[in-house]
Amino acid sequence: MSSNSVHLLSFITLILIMVTNAYGVVDEYVRDDFPADFVFGAGTSAYQYEGAVLEDGRTYSIWDTLAHYSGNNIYNGANGDVACDGYHKYKEDIELMVDTGLEALRFSVSWSRLIPNGRGPVNLKGLQYYNDFIDILISHGIQPHITLHHSDLPQILEDEYGGWLSRKSVKDFVAYADVCFREFGDRVLHWTTFNEANVFALGGYDLGVLPPGRCSYPFGYINCTNGGDSTSEPYIVGHHLLLAHASTVRLYRKKYKATQHGFIGINIFAYWYNLDSNTIEDEKAAERAHDFYEGWFLNPLVYGDYPEIMKKNAGSRIPNFTKQESERIKGSFDFVGVNHYDTISIKNNPSSFEMETRDMYADMAATLIVNGTDMFPTQSEITPLGLQKLLNYLKEKYGNPPIYIHENGQGQPRNGTLIDTPRVEYLHAYIGAVLDAIRNGSNTMGYFTWSFLDLFEMLSGYKTSYGLYYVDLDDKELTRYPKLSAHWYASFLKGKNMSGIFENVNSQETLSSSY
Ligand SMILES: *[C@@H]1O[C@H](CO)[C@@H](O)[C@H](O)[C@H]1NC(C)=O
Ligand SMILES: *[C@@H]1O[C@H](CO)[C@@H](O)[C@H](O)[C@H]1NC(C)=O
Ligand SMILES: *[C@@H]1O[C@H](CO)[C@@H](O)[C@H](O)[C@H]1NC(C)=O
Ligand SMILES: *[C@@H]1O[C@H](CO)[C@@H](O)[C@H](O)[C@H]1NC(C)=O
Ligand SMILES: *[C@@H]1O[C@H](CO)[C@@H](O)[C@H](O)[C@H]1NC(C)=O
Ligand SMILES: *[C@@H]1O[C@H](CO)[C@@H](O)[C@H](O)[C@H]1NC(C)=O
Repeated sequence: MSSNSVHLLSFITLILIMVTNAYGVVDEYVRDDFPADFVFGAGTSAYQYEGAVLEDGRTYSIWDTLAHYSGNNIYNGANGDVACDGYHKYKEDIELMVDTGLEALRFSVSWSRLIPNGRGPVNLKGLQYYNDFIDILISHGIQPHITLHHSDLPQILEDEYGGWLSRKSVKDFVAYADVCFREFGDRVLHWTTFNEANVFALGGYDLGVLPPGRCSYPFGYINCTNGGDSTSEPYIVGHHLLLAHASTVRLYRKKYKATQHGFIGINIFAYWYNLDSNTIEDEKAAERAHDFYEGWFLNPLVYGDYPEIMKKNAGSRIPNFTKQESERIKGSFDFVGVNHYDTISIKNNPSSFEMETRDMYADMAATLIVNGTDMFPTQSEITPLGLQKLLNYLKEKYGNPPIYIHENGQGQPRNGTLIDTPRVEYLHAYIGAVLDAIRNGSNTMGYFTWSFLDLFEMLSGYKTSYGLYYVDLDDKELTRYPKLSAHWYASFLKGKNMSGIFENVNSQETLSSSY
């Protein structure tokens, strides 16, 4: 697709993007309405971006394995072997980040690229890649925000002792984190231990749709031929993630904080819930869903133990913390990373307690009603009030912790269009919601849209995408093209008054020339 035709199309479409006040959040705002130290960025993750999966010493992670598993039809036969080929194309991508005006980039380190055996010797080629990546970002004034684990435990550790099901994972993770702090911490100030800790445990060990793809009948969303026990494994894995997180934070604070002055947190996924009916039962169901999704991790981190309702409903299937573990976990974060996309409906489901065995959703006794037939919506509705309410909820329930919105954006079918008008509207509305939340006292410190460019996606492979930049998979060079959303975000980050731009029919010129 030539960039001329792209611009022509954008011009026509922009006339239709009269951003209205329909979403109930602030509509007119500029970059400078946010605090000066608030940071705007975009995200990627190693497996979804890098490709080069067996190059220069990297070994497979559990995500490579799931993507190559024949019993998995989540990705329609696709995998991340090449992805965006970011391992080779990162320099030109950083140029695009500079063009876009990104203030920060959220990305992850591939554990099995840095330490191919899971523990032990560091792979110098892998080390060099991340050092170079970080150096170039910093030379352009782009802050690196690193996630240590984005669904990609080295497969070798899964094979050796069952990965996160074993407590041995804790020690290996801390040793890996130690290498990252030691090698990159002189330049990296923001660390996140786990991406979507809650969804990693739920998706990977209850539903089976995420690595390592474990589940048991009747709970899985795939045929559970990989083994698993949906009734207990998510709780065990969640427990080990919390222990690994707390030990890593302890290490950072004891060994690196005084000299490196960085910050460390964890990331969780959160919905907002609308009640299916205006009843006290559905209201309680929503409260339970918040406790099972966010409280599972935030309650231990803020108050030292799992939510009462989880302990009650999961009984002996959820592990206990010793007094020492509880004390170590409590307060072990400088910020909470939040990934938010959707507001969904919730309904009380008492019948789940009649089941012979229960998984976490049955313990929740709530039905999550996602729009359409798909549990994982392809294209999120624009419901920014949900984010505003979520931020207010976290403020009130967990003592107003510092928050980074680590992921927010709109998935769309990857159909070749660069005119992602609904995504522009989505971003405009949700960033407004963040501003409203901040003005109402939320301690939100940054916003990263997912994703910087079209990636190998977690639940759809290459079928849907979230990128500001389109990656042409039919082109051997995997050429990147800016979508309308890239122009929009760039203009916003460069301080333009976007309301004015969108009301002006000649705006495309303004957008393009600013870009
Ligand atoms: C599970 O197996 C059945 C029977 O072999 C097959 O029809 C179905 O498509 C499989 N489902 C998934 C999600 O792989
Ligand atoms: C945790 O402690 C409670 C209360 O002492 C007990 O009922 C429960 O069985 C324990 N759970 C496990 C997994 O040991
Ligand atoms: C579901 O989709 C319909 C039609 O697009 C919309 O009106 C409704 O608000 C959506 N519900 C939720 C909970 O997003
Ligand atoms: C492609 O997807 C976008 C975003 O959902 C949609 O607006 C557009 O109509 C689609 N185009 C085609 C040709 O299907
Ligand atoms: C603003 O904050 C107050 C105090 O936490 C809360 O009661 C109110 O609901 C919040 N408003 C919105 C729109 O979130
Ligand atoms: C942005 O533009 C709108 C519409 O042109 C205008 O009403 C508003 O005052 C401007 N805001 C700022 C902060 O300049």
